[in-house]
Amino acid sequence: MNRLIVLLMLAGCGSSDTDTDTDTDTDTDAEDADTDRPAARPELPRVADLEDLDPADGEVRVRLVAAPAELEVNGETVSGFAYNGQVPGPTLRLTRGDRVTAEIVNELDVPTTVHWHGLHVPNAADGSVWMREPIQPGATATVQFTVDQAGTFWYHPHFDTDRQVDLGLYGAIVVTDPDEPSVDEDIVVIGDTWGETGEGEEHGGPRLAGPWTLNGVEDPKLTLTAGSTARLRWVNASNEGYLDLRPDDAWRWIGTDQGLIEPLAGAALLAPGDRADLEVGVGAGETLVEIAPYSLFGGAVEDSGVVGSLQVMGEGTGSAPSLTDWGVIDGPPLEDPGRTDLRFVFQGDGTRWFMNGEVFPDVTVPDVPVGSELFVEVRNVSPTEHPFHVHGHAFEVLSVNGERPRRRTLEDTVNVGIRDTLRLRMIADNPGEWMVHCHILGHAEGGMMTVLRVVEP
Ligand code: C2O
Ligand code: CU
Repeated sequence: MNRLIVLLMLAGCGSSDTDTDTDTDTDTDAEDADTDRPAARPELPRVADLEDLDPADGEVRVRLVAAPAELEVNGETVSGFAYNGQVPGPTLRLTRGDRVTAEIVNELDVPTTVHWHGLHVPNAADGSVWMREPIQPGATATVQFTVDQAGTFWYHPHFDTDRQVDLGLYGAIVVTDPDEPSVDEDIVVIGDTWGETGEGEEHGGPRLAGPWTLNGVEDPKLTLTAGSTARLRWVNASNEGYLDLRPDDAWRWIGTDQGLIEPLAGAALLAPGDRADLEVGVGAGETLVEIAPYSLFGGAVEDSGVVGSLQVMGEGTGSAPSLTDWGVIDGPPLEDPGRTDLRFVFQGDGTRWFMNGEVFPDVTVPDVPVGSELFVEVRNVSPTEHPFHVHGHAFEVLSVNGERPRRRTLEDTVNVGIRDTLRLRMIADNPGEWMVHCHILGHAEGGMMTVLRVVEP
């Protein structure tokens, strides 16, 4: 999600539709000096797209091969897993309405699946292993679905998820709507945290995630033509790191989990599994997005430097163009009628994790009729934060501790702070049995996961 926390004061700017700012930010160099950030930033690697093997319009056929791979992480070689030999995996670029046939080849020596996080796929294509078998080593599975959404999503395994995602199995899904305005550059930025041991992320290690890699490198720069507009699609693929993004005032947020929103300036918190889109009008000179440290044991840690950053360099003499008119007016969130149809409670003591007093897979599965409007309450009575994620559906956040968010947005993943109560509205429109879980993957694997059954009447 994206609790689009509005920290306008922090950026020292009060307008929400930021005018572009072409001034060279003099703070940046000072910050580079104080925090030991590398002086020469590597260029942000552009993630290759997944090849469409079907020439027909509206039909997309792709092949994803999960296999062991030697990965370059921060200049070190790490033994991990990869889709089609690359981490992040190739971007699945789609147009709303496309019919996708995905062939998934398992060349690992362990079972796996592919889950399409945030897409409302038919239950059989969802890749969760509740009631279904994973793809065995050496086997190939084919799934099909049609996309009727637009936005930034991602794919990852849903079997031994904590380990497989940690080792490098993830990629972005970008779905564009033919009716949506376009920008000059549409770029995927996937954040992940890696340990120093070369064994993937540090589980149970320091709880301030970082340093962050963006498309596999630390503190990259992105060189773009001055005078162009860019949409950066951020995905948090870390197992447990929170991406606390602090763009300077040249940027604005234009999308969350389930697509475009009415633009908003300020900071945004991406919990594990979350996405958000930033737009910038590139002028000559630089602009910066910083990542602030954030602890899952208690939130933002102010005044302790940064744990990553992305610099955009405008090349040429063009001045910053005006930003895109996306034509989105969300208005305020819906009124909460106060009725509660479903309740989810995150519980744990720091070593054991459960939901509603149960440990997955020994869970009670509620039945809800397809088409029902559900008011859902999510509470966190545990000592850490938890991103709440529902498969196959979108929901709207009505309130956080009684306060309504600034924008009406649709999400599939939302952070639930310690002792917070969230009220959500969800239309159960996709029949089948759907996972509901915390997206801190160690917590989910530890049992903080349950199932919701949407039944045909
Ligand atoms: Cu991205 Cu069940 O998760
Ligand atoms: Cu959790």
